[in-house]
Amino acid sequence: MDKLVIDSRGHLEGTVEVSGSKNAALPILMGCLLAETPVTLSNVPHLKDVTTTIQLLASMGVQVMFDERLNIEIDASNVTLKEAEYELVKTMRASILVLGPLLARFGEAKVSLPGGCAIGSRPVNIHIDGMRQMGADIVVEHGYIVAKAGRLQGADITMHPVTVTGTENLLMAAVLAQGTTTLRNAAREPEVVDLAHFLNAMGAKISGIGTDTMVVEGVESLRGVNYTVIPDRIEAGTYLAAAALTQSKITVTKANPEHLTAVLDKFVEAGALIETTPDTITLDMRGRSLKPVNIVTDPYPLFPTDMQAQFLVMNAVAEGESTIKETIFENRFMHVSELIRMGADIRVEGNTAFIRGVKQLKGAQVMATDLRASASLILAGLIADGETVVNRVYHIDRGYELIEEKFHKLGAHIYRLNNE
Ligand code: EPU
Repeated sequence: MDKLVIDSRGHLEGTVEVSGSKNAALPILMGCLLAETPVTLSNVPHLKDVTTTIQLLASMGVQVMFDERLNIEIDASNVTLKEAEYELVKTMRASILVLGPLLARFGEAKVSLPGGCAIGSRPVNIHIDGMRQMGADIVVEHGYIVAKAGRLQGADITMHPVTVTGTENLLMAAVLAQGTTTLRNAAREPEVVDLAHFLNAMGAKISGIGTDTMVVEGVESLRGVNYTVIPDRIEAGTYLAAAALTQSKITVTKANPEHLTAVLDKFVEAGALIETTPDTITLDMRGRSLKPVNIVTDPYPLFPTDMQAQFLVMNAVAEGESTIKETIFENRFMHVSELIRMGADIRVEGNTAFIRGVKQLKGAQVMATDLRASASLILAGLIADGETVVNRVYHIDRGYELIEEKFHKLGAHIYRLNNE
């Protein structure tokens, strides 16, 4: 298993280009199952989760091709298997996103039920209940969700709590349903919005995009299009956190600052200067010291759970006390025990972390448990005294494209050890 070794080397500087959004690319790739003619996607990041999705689509008979500019052409005109097997689903929960498209287009789907994961139990009851409301007959047997339907029927569906992939799955089910579907308490994340724009480009009729009520008029069929995936707001935010921690000035390019409003506000509260253009964000922390910030994670447009671990590291070395409350996932503080091993002063009670800033973290061997936890340990390594070794970096490869190269370009000293 690979490890990442990080030496703290002072300041970072320069620019880093943001890749396409993982959490937009995955549902869009699954959404290609809805199209009767080929789709071409640009700005899809090269990540383990994308490779897993392509494997999943290929296992169903979908043709996937890359052109010389690494655009991906996906031809789902001949889907032979309407199934997502356990071996793939267990490595990537987002595989559940084939359920809606398969059921909508073919009237059948068999998808392994995802298990719990490191950050919480993460049920999919809302996905299943919503499709049942659209007329699907769904049983869960032998660990699989087995769904059958004639043409799905439009329905009025209220989702509780707000769910990102739940909204996406039901949206993809609704676009080919007969009649009108109303999705209430819908997620408003930019990734959901990107999927909705993609579906409309293919011929779907979705209104209310970006609001908590989306109305979908079902259509008979969808056709292929060329589509460019939005930039990854969490990747952008992670590099900005690295600059804040190392008292540096960096610019992230090919970003969308509008998707990061709540996060940028917190960077400013933490003492950073922020400048934006329509597609760049510059964070300047030179000569400034970090202030602690209280955070509550919530659905978009509020502060994202996927930036919680990175801000927790910032608070761990800011002068003073702070709290971080995680309201989305019940077990998303796995990084805390590792940060404590690096000298942080953090106590977790229920869903809240109480943090007292320390002057200096100390490098140590640490273990990554999920994607964003891994990112936070790399950030901690950038400022810790001595060497930090992050084990189990496969988590990072699921969500951060070319992470060592991008950090090298900014002047950080990070290298990968391939062993075992
Ligand atoms: N929930 C239910 N029932 C459901 C679905 C969700 O109770 O049927 C609950 C969950 O247990 C959780 C809450 O609803 O407590 C919100 O979960 P949500 O469904 O929104 O999460 P998700 O769709 O599984 C996506 C991202 C996550 C991100 C969350 C929250 C993808 C592929 N994943 O997960 O991304 O943290 O939304 O914004 O889009 C990551 O990239 O590191 C990551 C974990």
